[in-house]
Amino acid sequence: MSKFYILANLKMNKSFDQSVKYLESLSKKVTNYDDEIILFPSNISLEYFSRNIGKFKLGIQDLDFRNEGQGTGSIAASQVKNLCDYSLIGHSERRQHFFENDEIISRKINISQKNNITPVLCVGEDLDTRNKGFSEVEKFISNQINKAISEETDLRNIMIAYEPIWAIGTGKSASIIDIEEVILIIKNCLEKISKQFIVPILYGGSVSEKNSEEFRKSKKINGILVGSASLDSEILSKIINYG
Ligand code: 13P
Repeated sequence: MSKFYILANLKMNKSFDQSVKYLESLSKKVTNYDDEIILFPSNISLEYFSRNIGKFKLGIQDLDFRNEGQGTGSIAASQVKNLCDYSLIGHSERRQHFFENDEIISRKINISQKNNITPVLCVGEDLDTRNKGFSEVEKFISNQINKAISEETDLRNIMIAYEPIWAIGTGKSASIIDIEEVILIIKNCLEKISKQFIVPILYGGSVSEKNSEEFRKSKKINGILVGSASLDSEILSKIINYG
């Protein structure tokens, strides 16, 4: 069985002290798993997490598109390459509130890979596009993939997360059929670049302890990206522990 990935995006939540307690409690509660667990805390606790991460892997929620220098408030891959294994790139909240465009996202993927941090590229359509039907969704997702990934991208060192905007924080996750359809769109785009590598494709958007098993059962979904439900260590440990 191939590895299943569970990613926890804590977003802009928890003080430093709360993050410390969270990691302690999660480490105790997670006992029974074979998956790769990747935590994406707020930057304020990144360094603490890297020293105490134990059995988990560590990711950063965003990276700058440049390597160092004039980037007030920003963090470069070169600064955290010894702390982090993964980065989230192109999350819809970054695209929307920080006006990140496809060119910036593509540069972030490249710089992340150059610093040995595996990027997790987030893609996903808004509700309007979804309501227009499948061919519009196909165009939207293909465009996001084709603009972010090029022949320069190392396909051995990237993951893609399908996170429809309408499913994020709404309590309404996408159906397995919808997700598997989009996974096929993503695979078709990737195969045009290279057929040589298998890129893990994950799902995110209102994943909870109630529906996580469904996603795990699909042979096509290689992992989940959990937002709100990951904030409570008890709930996240229920999603992770099984058997
Ligand atoms: P929710 O799980 O809160 O819907 O958030 C998903 C997400 O944006 C993870 O990156």
